[in-house]
Amino acid sequence: MLASIFKCVPTGIGVTQGKVFRHANDTLCEMVGYSQEELLGKSERMIYPDDKTFDSAQREKCRQIGEQKTATIETRWRRKDGKIIEVLLTVSPFETYSRSGDTIFTALDITETKELEADRRRLERAIDQAFDMVVITDAAGTIRYVNPAFEKGTGYSREEALGMDIRILESGEQQDEPFYRRVWQVIASGKTWQGRLVTRKKDGTVFTEQAIITPIFSESGDLVNYIAIRRDISDQIRIEGQLQHAAKMEAIGTLTGGITHDFNNLLQVIYGYVQILLMEKEPDDPDLKHLKAIEKATRGASDLIQQLLAFSRKLETQKRPLNLNQKVRETVKLLRKTIPRMIDISVNTADNLEMINADPVQMEQILLNLAVNARDAMPGGGKLLIETENVTLEGECVITHFEPVTGRYVLLSVSDTGHGMDKDTLEHIFEPFYTTKEVGKGTGLGLSMVYGIVKDHGGHIICDSKPGEGTIFRLYFPVLRSAGPVEGMENEEDMDIPGGNETILLVDDDNMIRDFERGTLVKYGYNVLEADSGEQALEVYRKRKEDISLIILDLNMPGMGGIRCFDELLRMDPAVKVLISTGYSIDGREREKLMARAVEFIEKPFGFKQMLKRVREILDQPNGA
Ligand SMILES: Nc1ncnc2c1ncn2[C@@H]1O[C@H](COP(=O)(O)OP(=O)(O)O)[C@@H](O)[C@H]1O
Ligand SMILES: [Mg+2]
Repeated sequence: MLASIFKCVPTGIGVTQGKVFRHANDTLCEMVGYSQEELLGKSERMIYPDDKTFDSAQREKCRQIGEQKTATIETRWRRKDGKIIEVLLTVSPFETYSRSGDTIFTALDITETKELEADRRRLERAIDQAFDMVVITDAAGTIRYVNPAFEKGTGYSREEALGMDIRILESGEQQDEPFYRRVWQVIASGKTWQGRLVTRKKDGTVFTEQAIITPIFSESGDLVNYIAIRRDISDQIRIEGQLQHAAKMEAIGTLTGGITHDFNNLLQVIYGYVQILLMEKEPDDPDLKHLKAIEKATRGASDLIQQLLAFSRKLETQKRPLNLNQKVRETVKLLRKTIPRMIDISVNTADNLEMINADPVQMEQILLNLAVNARDAMPGGGKLLIETENVTLEGECVITHFEPVTGRYVLLSVSDTGHGMDKDTLEHIFEPFYTTKEVGKGTGLGLSMVYGIVKDHGGHIICDSKPGEGTIFRLYFPVLRSAGPVEGMENEEDMDIPGGNETILLVDDDNMIRDFERGTLVKYGYNVLEADSGEQALEVYRKRKEDISLIILDLNMPGMGGIRCFDELLRMDPAVKVLISTGYSIDGREREKLMARAVEFIEKPFGFKQMLKRVREILDQPNGA
């Protein structure tokens, strides 16, 4: 009887004596793929894959038997066909009549179990390390499992989450009661639900996530679990929004750009003919009044168009290396005269502010527009603060751009303590014709123009504001890359700009302009002497006449002024080379006078390329021409 049990139990059973097989039941034979004859009388070693596995199995067996009379070990066998199987062995010493040293063992093939376990562990690790949040609940919605991404994303630790009702995460922020009921209906009916959820974190903040919730059924067909895979998509939504905004601004820009360009040309024609008609009329002509009105209206239209052109970046710009501080100080002087006293204007400029490549006139327009808006937002008075600062952005996404922004920028901030704006207004402020001001007060073009100019300068603009809490505009302008002594400043196209090594005397009472001119000339190899008045210029020239090859002379200076200085210079040396720079178009008579002497002009504002070219031209003319 015993023998037949031994033969057919579904467990491998064997008896060994001194590591040699004495008995093996059918199941054991099946497990290893050898017949009884092949096994009996042979060493156990034959079913182990290698010495190492065999030795360590034997050692472990002896150790456990020494301690507790039986041993349970996991090891690996090699079947006759070469396949490796995982086995669970229980071994105990087996005393018979006289013989000792026999052991009886049972063997279970646990290969499949092991594989399943490894699979499970792999899955667990994958879910643990997943970027997405994974939550498993039971059918009632009680949380049974969360992964670390969930802990991080919601602020609930695993301990807190387990046993908690999943509905705690429902924010109710954007979705109402019926919304959640529909979700539950879908998943409870055995279908997968997919969509966006607005979820509340432990700390009360909410975020939007993309979720897939799948019901899990037991083998008997009961719905036992829900598994939810959720991903925080707040960033993505924000970027989508910014992308849309950028695309919209681009589209409006293109649209207005097309119209304004043509419209501007039409205005030119109207304006031109009005001018002609005005000239032809006698002072007492009754039409004169009407023509004047047309002229005025045309000029008004032209002002509007200029702003639209700036927005759609269709304006010619005169960019040059510029210290924004200087521009800020100048403009603030103007603002103090025009902005009501009850608004307190303060300025906070950074020392060593980096240079930017900017159109000074446009910078002034930006400042004026922002200041006027601030004024309008503070009808009862308040504070207007204008600041500059050097900043380095490192992949920040904060800017109106959807791609991260990196690099060195000059930051211009204009803030006020006015009535601020709500979210809806904020969204539209840069659009042309968007205004909240009453008819006649606002055109809605100011910020569009600011936006266009900033973009045209390769910069970024953002606005922060809340109702009742004031407003701050932050404008980022890329820092001008400084170049080596004779290298081009921007691109290869600039490489053919001529430089030289002559000495040039700069005469201008405006420090800023002298700075710009000197900077450019030195960069292109010239030696530079400076004078801030006609008198000083004559003195320098007297001393260094032999060295100086060219004088760049401003006409509009206090004291003796440019023209008299020029006359004096000519008296000292009739062959002196002078390039006259003028801030305003010289009127007819003066121009004629100068032309008669074949003087060289350059009209401000001029770009550095233009200046360098003119300088080289004049220097290369034969002396005494
Ligand atoms: N500093 C500010 N404070 C509050 N609201 C502002 C501020 N600047 C701009 N805005 C809002 O942006 C809108 C658009 O500004 P803008 O383009 O300059 O046009 P306008 O000034 O002609 O209305 C304004 O009508 C106003 O609602
Ligand atoms: Mg405005």
